[in-house]
Amino acid sequence: MTRPLTPLGSNPIRAVDVIRKKRDGQELTSAEIQYVVQACTSGEIPDYQISAWLMAVVLRGLTRAETSALTDSMLRSGEILDLSDLPAAKVDKHSTGGVGDKTSLVLAPLVAAAGLFVPMISGRGLGHTGGTLDKLEAIPGFNVNLPLPQFRRVLDACGCAMIGQTSEIAPADRKLYALRDVTGTVESPYLICASIMSKKLAEGIDALVLDVKTGSGAFMKKEQDAAFLAELMVETGEHMGKKMVALITGMDQPLGLKVGNSLEVEEAVDVLRGGGPEDLKELCIELAGWMLHSGGAADAVEEGKTVSRKLLASGEAFEKFRQMVILQGGDVRAIDEPARLPHSKFKLEVASPKDGFIVAIDCEAMGRASVALGGGREKKEDSVDPAVGIVVHRKLGDQVSGREPLCTIHHNSEARARQAARLLLESYQIASTPPAGEKPPLIRHVIRGAAAK
Ligand code: URA
Repeated sequence: MTRPLTPLGSNPIRAVDVIRKKRDGQELTSAEIQYVVQACTSGEIPDYQISAWLMAVVLRGLTRAETSALTDSMLRSGEILDLSDLPAAKVDKHSTGGVGDKTSLVLAPLVAAAGLFVPMISGRGLGHTGGTLDKLEAIPGFNVNLPLPQFRRVLDACGCAMIGQTSEIAPADRKLYALRDVTGTVESPYLICASIMSKKLAEGIDALVLDVKTGSGAFMKKEQDAAFLAELMVETGEHMGKKMVALITGMDQPLGLKVGNSLEVEEAVDVLRGGGPEDLKELCIELAGWMLHSGGAADAVEEGKTVSRKLLASGEAFEKFRQMVILQGGDVRAIDEPARLPHSKFKLEVASPKDGFIVAIDCEAMGRASVALGGGREKKEDSVDPAVGIVVHRKLGDQVSGREPLCTIHHNSEARARQAARLLLESYQIASTPPAGEKPPLIRHVIRGAAAK
């Protein structure tokens, strides 16, 4: 049995003592946290003790020093990519999850087209939110399971590569997340921060831009909760020597007009070709501006945004995306002609029940409608249908007449479509007068780490 973290002559660290200490609200030492993470990863302490410790963390919280120590230990539980020989900065973006959020598909090639490297390791759909890997897999043949050496080769060749988490990256998170999932301990900003940051920092990046969502379709419905998590992640990343910035952005309605895997690839391609819906374009350009600035490719964010607009308009970002698709085994014809992407057999229009204005959207319910169609997973082992999804015709503030379509459902099953239609109808709040007050901006505010200023 290993007790590597005990100074010579002192008592060995015992799981039960660490649990008691956190239960009583005391601050743990880095050595104690490192012990829990190492012993959890190696299977040395049983699941019931790790679970008890996780619950103590949920109830008592962690200090900034404890959060950094937890992130660092989880990061060091696995491989950390060494990309120091690449000739430009390595930057990435992470989103806390939304509905219709396909910005990663645009940002990786866009930022690579500006000369930086984007080693993006992404996740699958979680709950009602979509996942980048599921979207990429809608492109026939696209391989998100490249081993790390091949990931590195794609990155060398085109400046960006997009894969899923491998068993080598932060194995402690895999173990801890599986326990959190079944013990009611996912909802802790400290655990969420360590989980996300340990995986992102393993990419060997210099800078990270966070898109922390708030609103009815976000995990953090309240802006103050989103800001708290954003600050925690920015401070943790900074403490570990990274340039950090977080944008708090609205998720009170889907981003863009399309929700579902193939449909979202189609919309991302529209943006990469210089078109696409305004809100999606705005967020992509804002995030890209920050990525270019954080990575040193632009002196100011505004300059980064100008460069990004040009790279989208000129087709250079789209060309980068094509290169990456080819290098990762995808059928590039499906990108050149999105009609070749998987499409559903049937469509069903969801008509407005009355005349009026859209004053609120339950965006989480919209995400659940997409999952109900088969576009996401109810259970981890479910397979995803890339062809299904929702095209949104009416968004916040829009006027609608009774019987006009609110959305069109793309489906492969009548029963699933009926369930999705119910959820979609319930998700719209329609009133006789337009929404009061100013429309809240998509980008609510920016939290910058000292190094990113
Ligand atoms: N996503 C993660 O990767 N980890 C969490 O804890 C929550 C969301």
